[in-house]
Amino acid sequence: MRYGKPLEAGRIFLTNGTQNVLFVLLSALAGRGGAILVEEMTYRQIREVAQLLGLNLISLALDDDGVLPEALEEACKAHSPKVLYCIPTVQNPRAMIMSEERRRSIALIAQNYGVAIIEDEAQGLIPVDAPAPFSAIAPEITWTVTGLSKCTLVGLRVAYVVAPSSSTLTSVMTPFESMAFWYTSAVSASVITQYIESGLAGSMLASIQAEAAKRQAMARKLLPSTMMRGANGLHVWMADPSRTGDQLAAEAARVGVLVRSGSEYAIDSNPLSSGVRISLADVSESDLSEALSRLSVALVR
Ligand SMILES: Cc1ncc(COP(=O)(O)O)c(C=O)c1O
Repeated sequence: MRYGKPLEAGRIFLTNGTQNVLFVLLSALAGRGGAILVEEMTYRQIREVAQLLGLNLISLALDDDGVLPEALEEACKAHSPKVLYCIPTVQNPRAMIMSEERRRSIALIAQNYGVAIIEDEAQGLIPVDAPAPFSAIAPEITWTVTGLSKCTLVGLRVAYVVAPSSSTLTSVMTPFESMAFWYTSAVSASVITQYIESGLAGSMLASIQAEAAKRQAMARKLLPSTMMRGANGLHVWMADPSRTGDQLAAEAARVGVLVRSGSEYAIDSNPLSSGVRISLADVSESDLSEALSRLSVALVR
């Protein structure tokens, strides 16, 4: 119960996955040519959405707790942005979970400057101890998008959205009323509802949580603790300030392991994006163990 209290039904709507609703929300909240704030490394497809909508992406520096409040305040003063898009729970690619204290500082600045927050909870249900979402801290400015692709069923392409209020939801979504691309099909909606009501979705989530915890423990055991900067959810971030992410990824490739360089997620071309994202999912446990062992030998100096 991360929201602290039951949510009013009128604030919740069901969409055809996260990507579609990000397109809708960003175009409605930021407007063509508007500025949106994003973490300096973030979900890669946000760049494509921004490009299609003609949005100006402004990157915010991160530390090990997520977006830096000073960076947010400075960007609000300089660019008068309308929206902050961020991934506070299991950041992509850096894997950190933003603390409650940091969430409160970020929310306060966003409230002061009239910035709406879109929080992408793609892996939000996986950590069992994540702090309350922005929707619980600053409900009047937050849109929380919880996709189920990673934490329940990939095939259904369903995401739940919590809007600031039912009236804001109506005014933002009315222009999209006759468009069919963003809402979920009746079949998917009915399947996910049955899964949730029967308890099946809950047990699938519990299995994913247990598997993720097992794989995180494996990563902590096999990868060097000096380089690991986050092992939450379904991926790990590994960094070494003396090498770029591209160098680390090339060294991993030499031992036959595919990892993604931080540069693939960077908003500005930042040669110092010194880390790699290592996925713990979509491989068998034995292949993962073998790959992590190879990485620990290849990447340690
Ligand atoms: C941060 C983030 N947001 C959204 C998505 C995609 O979500 P969906 O499948 O609901 O469109 C992903 C998938 O990788 C993701 O990592």
